[in-house]
Amino acid sequence: MEIKYVEIPKISDVRWALSFIEVPKDIPFEIQRIYYIYDLKEDGSIRWEHAHRETEQIMFCLNWSVTVGFDDGKNKELIILDSSNKWVHIPKMIWHWMEWFSENCIILVIASHLYEETDYIRNYENYISILK
Ligand code: TYD
Repeated sequence: MEIKYVEIPKISDVRWALSFIEVPKDIPFEIQRIYYIYDLKEDGSIRWEHAHRETEQIMFCLNWSVTVGFDDGKNKELIILDSSNKWVHIPKMIWHWMEWFSENCIILVIASHLYEETDYIRNYENYISILK
């Protein structure tokens, strides 16, 4: 499994820090949707255990930190997003989840497809059987 994990430039001066993403250079798909997750309720919660049949995503943690877990049916990998200028690519057909430890997390996701429930595989046994 090769999960793409990128640190983009951070331009800092006395007033602020600024980072940017360019299309198509930085995004390996056509963007159809952007969503963000905030007002997280329980520290240490796990959200989002699923895989997508077609949707690819890029995830940022804009505030605080979040751990993103990946499982391709053979190997597992954990990536910590702990800076606003880091992102991780979530390929299609990779089981993934998020663990957070602060309600201050703000998670930004850029997605290749519109929301479609049929794109989700929400059961791990089902995911493994589709891989075969
Ligand atoms: P979902 O991705 O199913 O979250 P979880 O796997 O943690 O339950 O999304 C939760 C709800 O939000 C679900 O009713 C669908 C809706 N939703 C949209 O309408 N559009 C979106 O882009 C996303 C991500 C979710």
